[in-house]
Amino acid sequence: MSKQTMVEMRGVKLRFGEKTVLESVDCSISAGDVFVIMGLSGSGKSTLLGILLGLLKPDAGSVKFKGMELTGLARPKLNDVRTHLGMVYQNAALISSMSVSDNIRLPLRELSDKSAKEIESTVELKLKLVGLDEDKDKLPSELSGGMQKRVGLARALALDPELVLFDEPSAGLDPINGKLINDLIIDLRKRHSVTSIVVTHEMEGAFAVATRMAFLHEGKILLVGTPEEFRNSGNPVISAFLQSYSTHEKSKG
Ligand SMILES: Nc1ncnc2c1ncn2[C@@H]1O[C@H](COP(=O)(O)OP(=O)(O)OP(=O)(O)O)[C@@H](O)[C@H]1O
Ligand SMILES: [Mg+2]
Repeated sequence: MSKQTMVEMRGVKLRFGEKTVLESVDCSISAGDVFVIMGLSGSGKSTLLGILLGLLKPDAGSVKFKGMELTGLARPKLNDVRTHLGMVYQNAALISSMSVSDNIRLPLRELSDKSAKEIESTVELKLKLVGLDEDKDKLPSELSGGMQKRVGLARALALDPELVLFDEPSAGLDPINGKLINDLIIDLRKRHSVTSIVVTHEMEGAFAVATRMAFLHEGKILLVGTPEEFRNSGNPVISAFLQSYSTHEKSKG
């Protein structure tokens, strides 16, 4: 049996005023994929995640989650779909006045029908998963950037989403914390069958986690394929992109 299609985009177009950011995006993401989206700064990667979350409305095209059309979906139904999606924001986006465990408790209280006892055990489980069970009573400001990001991940996983979206999960982290996040992404796929979409600039991490990759360029997906197909791509834009990043990362290290 072929794998279930998690996300299907066809002819997705989005303009901000005069500027067309997405011209026509087509892509298909299967269950169990870690789908890495690359592209130059400003190419529309975060915009694409925003469309998937239903935060941005495309001007044209179709966006389906497990066969259900998301464009034009009314608010209650959209919120229902959102409980199946987890989002890990670039800046963690935690609520600064709430403890670590309260941040994770929040989506469970608001969006699940779990009992108080079930909520407590879920919070504990997710904190363990990201290795922060000792820090549950701390405020976000008492944590390092890498720890905050792990709390953001624990919160994104609170409702056991089938699909998790990551916007630059390892940006701004040291190599050890970056690897920790990447290992969690791999672990989620292998042990919990979670599908992920990862937007990243970190090429080493991209190749470490990806089962499939896509390159967004001038409003379209220029190439979709396996990491191997990307390495061997004869496309000059993609070769230049990969080369500049590998040189950049070597010079950092
Ligand atoms: N709310 C908005 N209003 C107007 N223009 C926007 C808005 N959000 C994004 N843009 C523009 O859309 C383009 C794509 O932005 P986006 O944030 O999706 O890029 P990106 O690929 O995620 O870039 P980066 O790698 O720097 O994060 C940019 O030119 C940006 O200025
Ligand atoms: Mg972005």
